[in-house]
Amino acid sequence: MKKRVRLHDKTFETYITEAQIMDSIRQMGRQISEEMQGKTPIFLGVLNGVFMFQSDLVKSFDGPCEIGFVRYGSYEGTQSTGVVRQLIGLDVDWLRDREVILLEDIVDTGNTVEQILADFSQAGLARPKIGTLFFKPDAFQKSYTVDYVGMEIPNAFIVGYGLDYDGLGRNLPDVYQIVETE
Ligand code: IMP
Ligand code: MG
Repeated sequence: MKKRVRLHDKTFETYITEAQIMDSIRQMGRQISEEMQGKTPIFLGVLNGVFMFQSDLVKSFDGPCEIGFVRYGSYEGTQSTGVVRQLIGLDVDWLRDREVILLEDIVDTGNTVEQILADFSQAGLARPKIGTLFFKPDAFQKSYTVDYVGMEIPNAFIVGYGLDYDGLGRNLPDVYQIVETE
């Protein structure tokens, strides 16, 4: 039975359950743990959408690690504006010579991560690894590789588990998809 929720002017229905999300996060956690053996990575999350994913991922990471955040913004409503603004920047001295895993809730067009990679490069930092819970391959327009992907999804707008529609929906434990026809 699908659940529906109304946020602002739009209706959304359940699409990916909390249990499915947790399975894919635990799998990613195991993979990163194996690859990071003997290292102390920094999990650098892109706020705000990443907060739930980052929290669950680091709990399934087996080993020492540090945690930090950056904040970038590009979305207005359900569309990317294409202009990515830095709101909380990179702590360059802390990140230098560290194993950094940049964490996103979702990689859509890829603009946000591209801008962050440019900022790493401009600061003289090595390219970080990139991990995302959701990936929209049909929207992605970039040439860089996303190292860790939780789930690939079709090109539709989703909310829940950290992701929002104009500020709402981040607290929903499941992921909901927009209902286009009502
Ligand atoms: P990109 O720059 O187009 O890759 O988009 C990245 C950012 O846009 C993500 O970190 C999200 O904050 C937001 N975003 C992209 N797709 C969605 C979606 O389907 N729902 C909610 N936010 C999204
Ligand atoms: Mg985000």
